Amino acid sequence: MLNDLWYKNAIIYCLSVGTFMDANGDGIGDFAGLMRRLDYLQGLGITAIWLMPIQPSPGRDNGYDVSDYYNVDPKYGTLGDFAEFTHACAERGLRVIIDLVVNHTSDQHPWFKEARSDPDSKYRDWYVWADKKPPDATHGVAFPGVQKSTWSFDKRARRWYFHRFYDFQPDLNTSNPHVQAELLKIMGFWIQLGVSGFRMDAVPFVIATKGPKVREPVEQYEMLRSFREFLQWREGDAIILAEANVLPDTDLEYFGEEGERLPMMFNFQLNQNTFYTLATGDTKPLKHALLATKPRPPSAQWGVFLRNHDELDLGRLTPEQRAAVFAAFGPEPGMQLYQRGIRRRLAPMLAGDRRHLELAYSLMLSLPGTPVFRYGDEIGMGDDLRRPERACARTPMQWSTEPQGGFTKHTRPPVSVISGGPYGFERVNVATQRRDPNSLLNWMERMIRMRKEVPEISWGDFEVLRTSRSDVLALCYHWRNNSVLFLHNFAAKACTVKFRSGCNEPVGCPLINLLSDDHSQPGDDGRHAVVLEPYGYRWYRVGGLDYLLTRSEI
Ligand code: GLC
Ligand code: CA
Repeated sequence: MLNDLWYKNAIIYCLSVGTFMDANGDGIGDFAGLMRRLDYLQGLGITAIWLMPIQPSPGRDNGYDVSDYYNVDPKYGTLGDFAEFTHACAERGLRVIIDLVVNHTSDQHPWFKEARSDPDSKYRDWYVWADKKPPDATHGVAFPGVQKSTWSFDKRARRWYFHRFYDFQPDLNTSNPHVQAELLKIMGFWIQLGVSGFRMDAVPFVIATKGPKVREPVEQYEMLRSFREFLQWREGDAIILAEANVLPDTDLEYFGEEGERLPMMFNFQLNQNTFYTLATGDTKPLKHALLATKPRPPSAQWGVFLRNHDELDLGRLTPEQRAAVFAAFGPEPGMQLYQRGIRRRLAPMLAGDRRHLELAYSLMLSLPGTPVFRYGDEIGMGDDLRRPERACARTPMQWSTEPQGGFTKHTRPPVSVISGGPYGFERVNVATQRRDPNSLLNWMERMIRMRKEVPEISWGDFEVLRTSRSDVLALCYHWRNNSVLFLHNFAAKACTVKFRSGCNEPVGCPLINLLSDDHSQPGDDGRHAVVLEPYGYRWYRVGGLDYLLTRSEI
């Protein structure tokens, strides 16, 4: 199906196989375990799974250091298990995308081993070398405070090699046509095994010029078109979801003016400003980010997220804004990372306040784009700040009150489940929340179901409505003669917000609440006045009740 834009109205769930469910009791999650949990995921309502790196790796950067692109890490299972997994997903109508990490390899990859030891090897030019230490070797490190430089000396090659990330992740020379051809082959391989696309790691670096003489890297955007074309020739509806933390003025370079490059990108701009607004109640920068990232080709889509497996990167905020987010959500140095971010999970950042959490997820589900959840978000999992860097928020999924949260039968898995305290598995787990109709898990399931029934968010045009309050965001979407309207109160205080509904009627339209019976009628002046609770939110359909009925037939 060439034109099936399934990703436009999808619900993506990101997980790492190693921390999700362990079936064989060796303490490491595996495909067999994950397969036992597919019905859980389907029940939650998600429509696509994003698997973090699954390929063989020495595991020094959570698998983002690949040593073989054509296999599954044996600790997770075999390629056979993987094919079973994609089949089991397809049976349930779930799509699978996997991480594609091709900016760099592991230094244990046979290509790098050969490249460093044999100057005549064809792999020598697959990496980026310098005879002398480049003068700007300390510039542009990806992990400030932990990573010292972007060039390291290799004793074997007696040359310097370039690495944007850690020194065990040598950058591939992505300008080399042989490397580019290999990259396509890797995509083709996994497509053949049933994936619907890739979350592409570090895209701006993949396409940047690299080398000792490169002072200001230049993005070679046309490379993105070649990836896209290849994918679509092989599998019409396959996608790339790009990790590209870039400024809005280059968004269209990434998407392509006609949508001929990347179908999807994470909206980092929106992400950072969302956190600023959550921290301060000031919606202005969030509105600004919404409008700045509005232009995109019709086939393209944003990935909208709150937290991911990395630190919450606040590098694009002003120093004052960043300080405000740090003060609210990560005041202690141990909560911060790389001089720019916060490494905690969302629930502890919001002090476990259910109202604030609901506000945040209601917002994520109603921002323009496809929502991307992180495993454990749905039950409000916490973090373990004793673990280093980003590892604090990568602990095993908490399934039940059994030992190790039901994640494994092993008594001492390499990564322990969070235990004790407000976020320990004893209190926060799937089994307990499943039984409680008011749990976060059941709330999330209802919200996800509702989100899927409001395709206007994914397909429509949005307007930021003017309201009487700066701490309330009012968003209205229009699509195929339907309109939906969302209110979010970022303040910890109740308020009355006044606004026009965004319909064309001068007298205003009624607003039908999608989540409760509390509808809203316009006043004589055509304006609505809605009383919102502290951190209150509303999902409305614009128009009479009959609208509601006709909509559901679509
Ligand atoms: C991306 C990943 C991150 C990883 C880095 C290097 O930013 O999200 O986890 O460390 O790339 O591959
Ligand atoms: Ca296992």
